[in-house]
Amino acid sequence: MISLRNIEKQYDGVQALRHVNLDIADGELVVLIGPSGCGKSTLLRTVNRMTEPSAGQIIIDGRNALESDPVLLRRSIGYVIQNVGLFPHMTVRENVAVVPQLLGWDKAKRLRRADEMLELVRLDPERFGSRYPGLLSGGQQQRVGIARALAADPAVLLMDEPFSAVDPITREQLQEELLRIQRDVRKTILFVTHDIDEAIRLGDKICLMRDGAVVQYADPDTMLRQPADAFVAQFFGQEPALRRLARHSVADFVRTDAASLAAAAKALNEGAASVTLTTGARTALSKLLDGQPLLPVVDHAGAVAGLVALADLTLAQTPAAASHVNRVLAA
Ligand SMILES: Nc1ncnc2c1ncn2[C@@H]1O[C@H](COP(=O)(O)OP(=O)(O)OP(=O)(O)O)[C@@H](O)[C@H]1O
Ligand SMILES: [Mg+2]
Repeated sequence: MISLRNIEKQYDGVQALRHVNLDIADGELVVLIGPSGCGKSTLLRTVNRMTEPSAGQIIIDGRNALESDPVLLRRSIGYVIQNVGLFPHMTVRENVAVVPQLLGWDKAKRLRRADEMLELVRLDPERFGSRYPGLLSGGQQQRVGIARALAADPAVLLMDEPFSAVDPITREQLQEELLRIQRDVRKTILFVTHDIDEAIRLGDKICLMRDGAVVQYADPDTMLRQPADAFVAQFFGQEPALRRLARHSVADFVRTDAASLAAAAKALNEGAASVTLTTGARTALSKLLDGQPLLPVVDHAGAVAGLVALADLTLAQTPAAASHVNRVLAA
């Protein structure tokens, strides 16, 4: 548990943070979002004291972070930034093992750990371990950055726009990977982004900031359904229901009664396009709007699993707890 209490930060003349209160539960992924200059990075950096707050308290697992040794604190918290900051003269494996080395792990143990972490982020240690970072793509470098941040098994991970510098497809893959890794390792994560869809996709909770203050702190569904004020509503745009839909998959809406299964089988036989249970609900909506009256749904083995029609894609009956991301994380 991380508790930020009445955090203030002044730079000469600039009030970067005002009266920030934020509780982040263990294992939760909290996204910080808001207009440029609103204080996201500053807030993130107060947690491991790369930035010292001017006032307030930071309590991590019951301990006052402002009273602990800042160097030890920093080593105990993983940190990932936009352009990774890998050391160019060190191999990928050595980069990942940096914090374990600082912590005095013996060489065999830390290199073994580095290889485990590379496997976790889906980089083959045989292929990539002894390469230098300059020979990796941007997306691969981000993966190494995540592996490095996780190497010493910190309870807390700070991520400042980690996926901003990669192309949209790589970005989606990295988001998917982060959700998968989070399912395995369950870290407490503070994640800064500019990207609203990324925030909604990844966040257990979203903290929207403006001018150094927290405007609303809620789960994505609540944020979109019940914006605290006009600024929040405007920030998330004109199509909040479409954005909410993006957190759901076809599995949340599929009809599985006998008549629907029969209709789906018939449509498939007639050559209709199908979707799978894990297809995003927004993608299914797009296909339905394109003219197909119903979509057969198949499971991963290709067997008929049901169908969805336009009228099924209503969020009114779908509790937030049924969302795809939550269910995947709970699996
Ligand atoms: N070292 C510094 N010295 C003086 N002012 C600073 C310093 N770092 C940040 N600021 C100011 O504090 C405010 C918050 O900056 P911060 O970097 O936290 O914003 P941000 O929300 O991360 O913005 P962005 O989305 O552009 O990354 C800004 O007005 C910024 O100019
Ligand atoms: Mg920033």
